[in-house]
Amino acid sequence: MDEFTDLKRTERVRNRTLDDVSKVFEKNAWDDVEWNDEQKQAAVEKVNFNSATPLSEEDSRDYLLNAGKHWESFYKKHNDQFFKLRKWLDSEFPEILEANSRLVESGNESDERVVVFETGCGAGSTVLPLLECVKKSFVYCCDFSEAAIALLKSRPQYDPAVCNAFVADLTEDSTDHWPVQPNSVDFVIMLFTLSAIRPEKMPAVIAHLVKFLKPGGQIFFRDYGQYDLAQLRFKPAQCAGENLYVRQDGTLAYFFTQEEVRNLFTNAGLKEEQNALDKRLIVNRKRNLLMHRMWIQCKFSKPKP
Ligand SMILES: C[S@@+](CC[C@H](N)C(=O)[O-])C[C@H]1O[C@@H](n2cnc3c(N)ncnc32)[C@H](O)[C@@H]1O
Repeated sequence: MDEFTDLKRTERVRNRTLDDVSKVFEKNAWDDVEWNDEQKQAAVEKVNFNSATPLSEEDSRDYLLNAGKHWESFYKKHNDQFFKLRKWLDSEFPEILEANSRLVESGNESDERVVVFETGCGAGSTVLPLLECVKKSFVYCCDFSEAAIALLKSRPQYDPAVCNAFVADLTEDSTDHWPVQPNSVDFVIMLFTLSAIRPEKMPAVIAHLVKFLKPGGQIFFRDYGQYDLAQLRFKPAQCAGENLYVRQDGTLAYFFTQEEVRNLFTNAGLKEEQNALDKRLIVNRKRNLLMHRMWIQCKFSKPKP
């Protein structure tokens, strides 16, 4: 089955509503599952507990300042086997395919393309499905891990005629040497990348992205929400700040509230188009496990003058 067929399949299984708790093990996942007061209280207590004993200041400094080193080791260890291909791009961000269809249907013979820029692309979990289904696209993508970019470039689907993957640190002050032109990008994609960046650098990173967007262009964002299972699972002495943790492998994970994401992007001059909390209950039927995930998904647009 090709990626595109699989994208369509993902779309069809949305809206799985859990009306009868006794049937919870009948599906692999349920959408928009509300937490009861007891669950909310338990989550707050877990976070209070795991953040009460913080990481030492020295270790925190190392992890915050040398994030690149830890991601480089991550990709050398896992290659491209860790992050699943993002096969849901079509259903969550249909705007990209719609822009592609408009170009195809216009019969325009010119070289015009939908310009996409993925930030923190890793080894290509988003770029590869994108290249497969958005035929009239040109995709820029960057990551500060040289190993990740090398893996992506080694894939047979990687075609330099329609994709430019480059090594760059999103927290750099100057982006003048990046291959992307200001005001040239239709869609910026940022999936689970901002959470890997230390909070004081987030506004500067977003300012870079705004600069590259065309007026009318959009940023698509998806990342961890506060009280996601991943946050609750941290142990004491892994917390490097409020809602900020260091994983065993040295990589950072920040857990956002919807309001924080709103403020970060609207303060950069963008208009909020979507800000949703995706409360998903994932069911592991083999192991009888229920996992409550919290992801934030947003769309922001750059106003036209
Ligand atoms: C959690 S992974 C997500 C990868 C991919 N976006 C996905 O959703 O599968 C975070 C990615 O952000 C990259 N990253 C973290 N901080 C970065 C920075 N300052 N500049 C560029 N890339 C960064 C990491 O190397 C890693 O590939």
